[in-house]
Amino acid sequence: MTERRIFEHPIIDFDRGEEFYFDFEGRKVKAYEGETIASALYADGLTKFTESKKLERPRGFFCAIGKCSSCNMSVNGRPHVRTCVTQVEEGMKVKRHGAKPDFPEKDIGRGKDRTEKDVEFAIIGGGPAGLMAAITAAELGGDVHLFDEGADLGGQLVKQTHQFFGSHEEDAGVRGIKIGDDLVEEAKKRGVNIHPETKVIGYYEDRKIAVERNGRFEVYQTEGIVYAGGAIENYLAFENNDLPGVYGAGGVQTLMNEEGVVPGEKVLMVGSGNVGLIVSYQLLQAGVEVVEVIEALPEIGGYQVHASKIRRAGVPINTSHTIVKALGDEKVEGAVVHEVDEQWNKIEGTEREIDCDIICLAVGLRPDTGFLRQAGCEMEYIPELGGQVPLRTEEMRTTERSIYVAGDSAGIEEATVAALEGKLAGVAAYEEITGKENEKTESLKKEAKDGIEKMRKGPYGQVPRQGVKTCTVDEEVCG
Ligand code: FES
Repeated sequence: MTERRIFEHPIIDFDRGEEFYFDFEGRKVKAYEGETIASALYADGLTKFTESKKLERPRGFFCAIGKCSSCNMSVNGRPHVRTCVTQVEEGMKVKRHGAKPDFPEKDIGRGKDRTEKDVEFAIIGGGPAGLMAAITAAELGGDVHLFDEGADLGGQLVKQTHQFFGSHEEDAGVRGIKIGDDLVEEAKKRGVNIHPETKVIGYYEDRKIAVERNGRFEVYQTEGIVYAGGAIENYLAFENNDLPGVYGAGGVQTLMNEEGVVPGEKVLMVGSGNVGLIVSYQLLQAGVEVVEVIEALPEIGGYQVHASKIRRAGVPINTSHTIVKALGDEKVEGAVVHEVDEQWNKIEGTEREIDCDIICLAVGLRPDTGFLRQAGCEMEYIPELGGQVPLRTEEMRTTERSIYVAGDSAGIEEATVAALEGKLAGVAAYEEITGKENEKTESLKKEAKDGIEKMRKGPYGQVPRQGVKTCTVDEEVCG
């Protein structure tokens, strides 16, 4: 098998830690300190991570950020561990369990392991929105705890090697990776209590939350919450779409740019929005062939500047094309596509096979809002924002007292808007909980609101602008 780890890259220096071995189903597998279990196994050549419940069809990973459960395995006797967000350790025992795991080998998560703590602010999610909310509330003097299920904070910024657009104040021209690192450093400097590899698993009355970390449960009684749980990648319906090798574009980006592992050799990219175009370019940078980009709409969805870059590298972008089938039995060995007319009907005689081992889906994101629904926040379906989002005030407060939302969980937009919403939610939550409103809080809120307005100006901001208008309600409605 060809080496899947990337050792030379034009932008990223993969600074791998110590080399060691762990046990996978009785076999020694090489890993490096800092890798996740899933990336170490993928680098070793594994494609089948689990299997479907009824038909026992093979399944590979999909999202690589802990949101889909298709990488669940048994780790040291503990079932259903999401291997894409769990760091590998020397001597670990890992095995696949499909839909029917063994009963846990040891007692985990029982009452004796539970601890309870009181905290002022819980920020859920360590992407740009959560980090900015945490930094801002801590800067104002709040006792802030930030929870994220990944080992590395920064959310989607951690894997974004491209430079951001926008104005200078909003980090234009700076690579996402660098912005993420800077935000994490700032949060540490401000005294934010950071809890990595910690999943918030439940909401109870009066802003009490339960978290799970390495099999131990903790309960936090909070006074206020900013939820910034991010987004989930959309799937697409076509025959064999569950084969290992059909991956989300964000999952591929994580594997490649964060973990330093290429997904395969020949990629068909489905979707020509900015994510599809940028990830295509990043695949080329990592030495992977992008066979073709297809787009069901008659126009390319992303910025022309990104499209031109990959076209210059010889990658065709075919609009009015859709995928109808993934080929292969155990993993992707090709794809079938055809052209569509403006009513999305198949154009007869245009069906053809594409030789590829990876089908990368870049077909949009939807807000991750499960926690907010459990907390009782009123939701509304807003197509312009990607799906179900919570109703909220202009200052990001939901219909539940002292629960705020920011970033992609509030609606799919650019990372810069997410960070600004985080800042706004951080100040507004601080004001509500402490009762302290002053010149500083007013000026921070104004900065955030002005920044958001500026980012939403122009033709590309028109869609989110309309969506936000529909789900923004008055203070009185929120109670
Ligand atoms: S949860 Fe691990 S791949 Fe989605």
